[in-house]
Amino acid sequence: MILFKKEADLRKWLDAQRKIQTSIGFIPTMGALHAGHISLVEHSKSENPVTVSSIFVNPTQFNDPKDFEKYPFTVEKDIAQLEAAGCDVLFQPSVREMYPNGTTPKITYPLGYLEIVLDGKFRTGHFQGVCMVVHRLLEIVEPDNLYLGQKDYQQCRVITKLVEIIKPVRSIKINICPTLREASGLAMSSRNMRLQEEDRKKATAIYQSLQFIKQNIQPGNLSGLKQEARSLLEKEGFRVDYIEIAAAADLTIADDWDGNQQLVVLAAAFLKEVRLIDNILLS
Ligand code: PAJ
Repeated sequence: MILFKKEADLRKWLDAQRKIQTSIGFIPTMGALHAGHISLVEHSKSENPVTVSSIFVNPTQFNDPKDFEKYPFTVEKDIAQLEAAGCDVLFQPSVREMYPNGTTPKITYPLGYLEIVLDGKFRTGHFQGVCMVVHRLLEIVEPDNLYLGQKDYQQCRVITKLVEIIKPVRSIKINICPTLREASGLAMSSRNMRLQEEDRKKATAIYQSLQFIKQNIQPGNLSGLKQEARSLLEKEGFRVDYIEIAAAADLTIADDWDGNQQLVVLAAAFLKEVRLIDNILLS
């Protein structure tokens, strides 16, 4: 695997590759890699002759400075995992390289409703920060295929919208890959590293509450079911930001269900100071 720290060097290498290879797959990450991230690399490897990943803990997407300070950093292990997975290139820029003109945003991305619902509502500015970094990364890498995890369902919708907004010269196909989970059902996440052993067990309640909704949903009003799922989490000691049922296509909150509409159930909750998110599609 080749490690690039400078935009210009990576661009030069990619320009040369584009002349001899058919497509470039890209997996942006913030490091502290786990099998979920690596599954995205594997998807890209199976579909592109060149796979690029990036590790950059993006300061502009952390609405809580403490969360940024405590974000796990395990770069040597990350490199070993990427290498074992056969990733071709790692881009690991500094903050100055990514934001030569500073971290203050110059553009506001018109994300509309996506920015005021669910994580948009509870993490003010978060998705603007995600757009700022992903826009920059897409301009540098110019991938044909972008690989994202369903684990961050709203982020997938936001990045899809970003790509519509920025209209890249080379078209980008967005590939959404399934959420990898521990045997317990807990969605793999870099933030799980911050959980103590007993809390790791408790954390499975998030997946259980999503499954509870999946198993008990009936056409009609959904407020009682959402309330029951929230109580399940609160009983385990979670501080719940939301547990919501929404339209899978655009995340419009569903208060009632006609029995046909494709829905997604999403949760975000704190266990002590660690914020976890998860979602499942309801078919
Ligand atoms: P990060 O949390 O490191 O996630 C990088 C990618 O891995 C995202 O697309 C995420 O959805 C995916 N991912 C995380 N956990 C997963 C799991 N258990 N199974 C499958 N995929 C999983 O998301 C970000 O970084 C950042 O916001 C980023 C897009 C890199 C912008 O800074």
